[in-house]
Amino acid sequence: MTVKNLQDLLDEGVQGRHVLLRADFNVPLNDAGEITDEGRIDASLPTIKALLDGGAKVIAMAHLGRPKGEVNPKFSLQPVANALSEKLGQFVALAADVVGEDAHERANGLTDGEILLLENVRFDARETSKDEAERGEFADQLVALAADNGVFVSDGFGVVHRAQTSVYDVAKRLPAFAGTLVEKEVSTLGQVKENPESPYVVVLGGSKVSDKLGVIEALAQKADKIIIGGGMCYTFLTAQGYNTQNSLLQEEMVDTCKDLLERFGEKIVLPVDLVVASEFSNDAERKEVGLDGTPEGWMSLDIGPESVKKFAEVIASSKTVFWNGPMGVFELPNFSQGTAGVAQAMIDATANNGSFTVVGGGDSAASVRVLGLNEDGFSHISTGGGASLEFLEGKELPGVAVLNS
Ligand code: 3PG
Repeated sequence: MTVKNLQDLLDEGVQGRHVLLRADFNVPLNDAGEITDEGRIDASLPTIKALLDGGAKVIAMAHLGRPKGEVNPKFSLQPVANALSEKLGQFVALAADVVGEDAHERANGLTDGEILLLENVRFDARETSKDEAERGEFADQLVALAADNGVFVSDGFGVVHRAQTSVYDVAKRLPAFAGTLVEKEVSTLGQVKENPESPYVVVLGGSKVSDKLGVIEALAQKADKIIIGGGMCYTFLTAQGYNTQNSLLQEEMVDTCKDLLERFGEKIVLPVDLVVASEFSNDAERKEVGLDGTPEGWMSLDIGPESVKKFAEVIASSKTVFWNGPMGVFELPNFSQGTAGVAQAMIDATANNGSFTVVGGGDSAASVRVLGLNEDGFSHISTGGGASLEFLEGKELPGVAVLNS
């Protein structure tokens, strides 16, 4: 099975052809609707520029958030169109709809080397429908925008784990190619999945144990150590008998955590201290405490300095590190040191130990940029959170599998 890539398409020639491009522009926005991390937009530029330079008429498809099939201005891709215009140095029009009259008029009106962004594909409920016929009907309408001789380029790595219309069904209807981002992500993460040099350390955080169960099961055999911090660690600490008070807890997962600790206990590394707060606020009263020191009614919002030291020691001796999920509420500056400390330990391991260090997308990738860390200090920063986890778990990614011909 082979996947055709962007170079294959450029060799065929894109001059004057419509290219339906699936990108992942699902960027975080603040309350004022401003983009707080443009990482995914930056990562999409090489493929877009190559297509525009080749004279293609690019029709970009993307989603923002989960608008649940309804038009909702809060989830409009307008901020993305503005950012793209600025970064590309050329105007990127946003269609007022997805496959409606405006999208058709603008797609027909494209000249060579121009780009149009369709409005949020998830404004149409058929994008995420489980019904193949519904998705198929929507896919036909998207494909119709591309006229004769159109092609599909898949470059939204962050969304390739979703069997959704603009990721999967469109790829089945047109000659399909992997963009440079998808190609790079698959080959780099493939290296970690197939051939991680030992000691191999996996660092997991984020709020839910349930989201990470699959990856813990899958990687427990391969990894030498699994470091667990962030919101999910409190369910493990509860399983160990600590009272973490009002910290995040998935009560129904406590027994599962006990079982994981029994089976993989010698590999799992948990925090040894916490940063606790009287309430969920940057201005809350704050204390560094031992595992059984959370005052009644308080909550832990970060791992403590001794934990950072312990985690950094494990990371320092690694040859491969994969990290997914922040260690605390990094968006609140008073509770960002755990995440910053672990990220810095990875940067140091890359520089001092030649360790191959991978940041697994989503919040972790955003935290690196938001905290002002050196992005170039890591071996790779993935644009896919869920996608990189599912890939490492060994699950098939529908949006990649569909490109095999
Ligand atoms: C992501 O942010 O992980 C991707 O854009 C996929 O978004 P989703 O989880 O809403 O499908």
